[in-house]
Amino acid sequence: MGWVADADLVAATGRAGGFGFLAGAVMTPEEVAGGIAAIRRQTDAPFGVNFHMYTPQASRIVDICIAEQVRAVSYSRSPDSATIDRFKAAGIICIPTVGALKHAVKAVQLGADALVIQGSEGGGHTGQVATSILLPQVRAAVDVPLAAAGGFRDGRGLIAALSLGADGIAMGTRFLLTQESPVPDATKRVYLETPPERIIVSPVLDGMPQRMVLNDQLQRLIVASSPLLAMRAVKNAFAMSRQTGDSPWALLKSGWKMYRAGDQSLGATMMSANAPMMIQEAVVHGRPETGILPSGQVAGLIDDLPSVETLISGIITEASTTAERVAKLTFADSKSESGAPDSDGASQ
Ligand SMILES: Cc1cc2nc3c(=O)[nH]c(=O)nc-3n(C[C@H](O)[C@H](O)[C@H](O)COP(=O)(O)O)c2cc1C
Repeated sequence: MGWVADADLVAATGRAGGFGFLAGAVMTPEEVAGGIAAIRRQTDAPFGVNFHMYTPQASRIVDICIAEQVRAVSYSRSPDSATIDRFKAAGIICIPTVGALKHAVKAVQLGADALVIQGSEGGGHTGQVATSILLPQVRAAVDVPLAAAGGFRDGRGLIAALSLGADGIAMGTRFLLTQESPVPDATKRVYLETPPERIIVSPVLDGMPQRMVLNDQLQRLIVASSPLLAMRAVKNAFAMSRQTGDSPWALLKSGWKMYRAGDQSLGATMMSANAPMMIQEAVVHGRPETGILPSGQVAGLIDDLPSVETLISGIITEASTTAERVAKLTFADSKSESGAPDSDGASQ
């Protein structure tokens, strides 16, 4: 999670038995290298790095991941097959996140070792198909380990995901709402208070469907005219250039590469500078009323800020009791009592 999965949150996740990904997609190469070192100072547990292949310095981040021998990399836009081959030759596991069946199939063809399957409930950029539909769809089509994402927060969800064919779960929003998450308290409070129906999907921020809290700022973007959005994008592109040290020309070249790859429209590409600046306003600077809060719908079910250790151990305990409860159910008896079809298909 951009600006959220920092070294401390990743290290805490590893110490608690989870597997965290450093938010390399919004970091400079120097910040990624510093983040890897900071994680290793805190734990020996394995971890990965998330990166975005269209950022201007993506190839340097790839080099750092390989040189540092991180355990895994994650991405939502697949790098070219030569880059994937380099990761694999270095023994680094490739775990892309996909939100549609065709992207899952393509990612495996390109060499993915495992997949995170994110249903439309999930936070940030997200697809159109719900986790409960996408997961069995992908399970039937590919033969690599799957982590289900989008809507998970507890042990019951873990068992549900396993039942639908996953090998585990991946969570974003639940980790954002922990003690170790660096998100300022004022912003965490807004996440905790928002009901599920006010966590919506809109393309208005950067042209691609993204799930976010419907606060006043998002409402203003939704009613703003296209020229106003375009002007905001230009302003934010210059602000981003100052922040990352990438020249406006380098940002323009990245946008052009993304557009040429056919991943999104020209309008969407031009708006893509909006997201980083407006998200940081809320999740880094702690001003939720003027920023944008990417969020899974599951935030509407979350009302606490546990430590990562308490969260993960609670999930394991609840998964065990849920599995025991489910194992005790006797479907054969309830079938004959309810008048459901018997073995030859006839209804009693
Ligand atoms: C604030 C926020 C930032 C995110 N940033 C990224 C990112 O930089 N890269 C990425 O691959 N996914 C990103 N995601 C998606 C998460 O990694 C994860 O797949 C998603 O949150 C899962 O759904 P859930 O929120 O229902 O758990 C982000 C999600 C949130 C809520």
